[in-house]
Amino acid sequence: MRRNPLGRTGIEVSELCLGTMTFGTQTPEAEAHAQMDRALEAGIDFLDTAEMYPVNPVRAETIGLSEEIVGNWFATRGRRDAWVVATKHSGEGMSHVRDGAPITSATIPGAIEDSLRRLKIDCIDLYQFHWPNRGSYHFRKNWRYDPSGQDRAATRAHMEDALDALQRQVDKGNIRAFGLSNESAWGTAEWLRLADAAGGPRVASIQNEYSLLCRMADTDLAELCVNEDVGLLPFSPLAAGLVTGKYQGGAVPEGSRRSHVDSLGGRITPRAFEAVAAYHALAGRFGLDPVHMALAWAARRPFVASAIFGATRLEQLEHALGAVEVVLSEELLEAIDAVHRDHPMPY
Ligand SMILES: NC(=O)c1ccc[n+]([C@@H]2O[C@H](COP(=O)([O-])OP(=O)(O)OC[C@H]3O[C@@H](n4cnc5c(N)ncnc54)[C@H](OP(=O)(O)O)[C@@H]3O)[C@@H](O)[C@H]2O)c1
Repeated sequence: MRRNPLGRTGIEVSELCLGTMTFGTQTPEAEAHAQMDRALEAGIDFLDTAEMYPVNPVRAETIGLSEEIVGNWFATRGRRDAWVVATKHSGEGMSHVRDGAPITSATIPGAIEDSLRRLKIDCIDLYQFHWPNRGSYHFRKNWRYDPSGQDRAATRAHMEDALDALQRQVDKGNIRAFGLSNESAWGTAEWLRLADAAGGPRVASIQNEYSLLCRMADTDLAELCVNEDVGLLPFSPLAAGLVTGKYQGGAVPEGSRRSHVDSLGGRITPRAFEAVAAYHALAGRFGLDPVHMALAWAARRPFVASAIFGATRLEQLEHALGAVEVVLSEELLEAIDAVHRDHPMPY
């Protein structure tokens, strides 16, 4: 298992990160714990959760359940140091968490205390803001994104306020590092600039959607990541399961994510199926499994620290592990880019 630095924190992570957002809905606790055992055995020591998980659906009564399930693993296995633990503070508008309150210095300490209690650990390794208060172009909002109404002074004041609160949490030993999610290049640059100027933890990572089917980070964000040592943590590197090919031809396998969320969060489009077919044909030409190709590609991009994949069941985790063996030749990378040109931004 390759390992990468997490920004300038001195923390190292495996190139694959275990996502946990189905822990407590599609993935029962025993299966989740079996995944954590197997992932560790295979060299994956980085997991990602969030105070609002599980999802599909998000329900008031299950808020925090994924963290609790991870915490029960720590309680029963007693191996806190085996994992680099990342979790997230929900952004503004998540009605089931603090009635949708925005992220502020008033919410940060309590949110961290609650996550620590559910996770049953003393310190969160990577504390992330799930999405910015001012909004985000992610989750298919890129098609009509309009930042013209933003208030720059208010955004910067919020960042300074939050950085100050985060630094106090670092000083208390409650968190080690700070990361963003669903952020833009400008937003990330401002967080970095304000931390340099006024103090506070430096952004270590940015968790945005990134996969063969969603390559928005390739341009401006990639440059920022490389120059500022901010590791991209691609989420949904299998495009929420689309890349496996199991939805081709309109199929909706029983129990699959699409059986819970029909549009797969706006990812179901005619062009998405065409792109998947093209990547499958390409993988076949190179003698690769498409899941392995997609995960290895996402994890090895030069600005990526670790790709956060999901496995609803243990056999999916087992399947994902095959990505570690894949060698990405120059010829394959060029062929992937050619398919991307033919099938850009399918959703
Ligand atoms: N920051 C954010 O806003 C954000 C957003 C989304 C996700 N995330 C993080 O990223 C993690 C991964 O997200 P994701 O689950 O969307 O990633 P993904 O790796 O793109 O999709 C994983 C899903 O694909 C299906 N799958 C995986 N392997 C398969 C196989 N071999 N055969 C058939 N189906 C397979 C499974 O769904 P089914 O079996 O249910 O169909 C699995 O849950 C999350 O757990 C979370 O930690 C963060």
